[in-house]
Amino acid sequence: MPRIAIVGSGLVGRAWAIVFARAGCEVAVYDTAPGVAADALAPIRDGLEELARHGLADDPAGAAARVRAAAGLGDALDGVAYVQESVPEVLDAKRAIFRELDALAPPDAILASSASALVASLFTEELAGRARCLVAHPVNPPHLVPLVELCGAPWTAPETVERARELLTAVGQVPIVVRGEIDGFILNRLQGALLAEAFRLVADGWVSPRDLDRTVSDGLGLRWSFLGPFATAELNAPGGVADYLARYGALYAGLNAEPAGAAAFDEATIARVVEAWGAAPAPGSVAERSQWRDRRLAALIAHKRSQPPAP
Ligand code: NAI
Repeated sequence: MPRIAIVGSGLVGRAWAIVFARAGCEVAVYDTAPGVAADALAPIRDGLEELARHGLADDPAGAAARVRAAAGLGDALDGVAYVQESVPEVLDAKRAIFRELDALAPPDAILASSASALVASLFTEELAGRARCLVAHPVNPPHLVPLVELCGAPWTAPETVERARELLTAVGQVPIVVRGEIDGFILNRLQGALLAEAFRLVADGWVSPRDLDRTVSDGLGLRWSFLGPFATAELNAPGGVADYLARYGALYAGLNAEPAGAAAFDEATIARVVEAWGAAPAPGSVAERSQWRDRRLAALIAHKRSQPPAP
């Protein structure tokens, strides 16, 4: 397996280290904040052990031993085939780190950014090696949610996207290719559309926020963990997607005649939703609930992996 550098060892960088180490890669983690890369090793080991408890990692101790804290950026990049940049989502920070990465990484290494919203053309245009740069946007936490959105700049070589796709597939992720630099890529556009409608429904008093959440966790989301909207539609009408739209297309067209849009996120709407949802979580409860979420996700992924492929 190729050597990997993780640049930025915060929430997402640590989870990426778990992904690559579990798959057998030697991983160097690097961070500019003193001690952060070294401090990342314990949570990375814990994450691997948690995966092993769910049957999702074979040899957590061996995988943890493949991760090291690099002494500097040059050390982290030594001999790597792939870099996963995970520094904060600030344009100047992305520009600065990509300049350094392009200067220091081996010439054939892929330079991938975890950027959630910034597209690669914003921070790679001036680089000599811009053809090897792209965004590989993960879903948090990537060691439990395998989707990765690959999105190149106009000058990213198709071979870069293809090599990233192959590597990420080999380490157990599920990459998809975004064919152009559309704001929000694909996942956040879908999430944003749902969130806007959820905000409107709660702010206008049609449903409580907890009942709305149940609509997803005990309704739509159950199917969504193994079927997307097209595959769902295909099974909801005997004649497939065309038949489904013949039956329900007018309903959805009517519902979309007035999309919730930006108004769903105005100050007054947010205030109504926040009031309906209730007080902010108690200190400590977010960490506890995040751990609970990760255990549930691990169990769900283990279930999915135990199943035969779809007929
Ligand atoms: P974070 O704040 O937890 O970690 C960022 C780390 O980068 C910090 O430890 C910081 O010291 C370090 N850093 C800053 N400048 C650096 C540099 N020049 N070289 C090396 N390290 C540097 O941030 P987080 O949440 O891990 O996000 C990282 C990236 O991942 C962002 O682009 C974010 O949008 C993206 N992302 C975040 C997700 C999330 O849910 N948190 C999900 C998907 C993507």
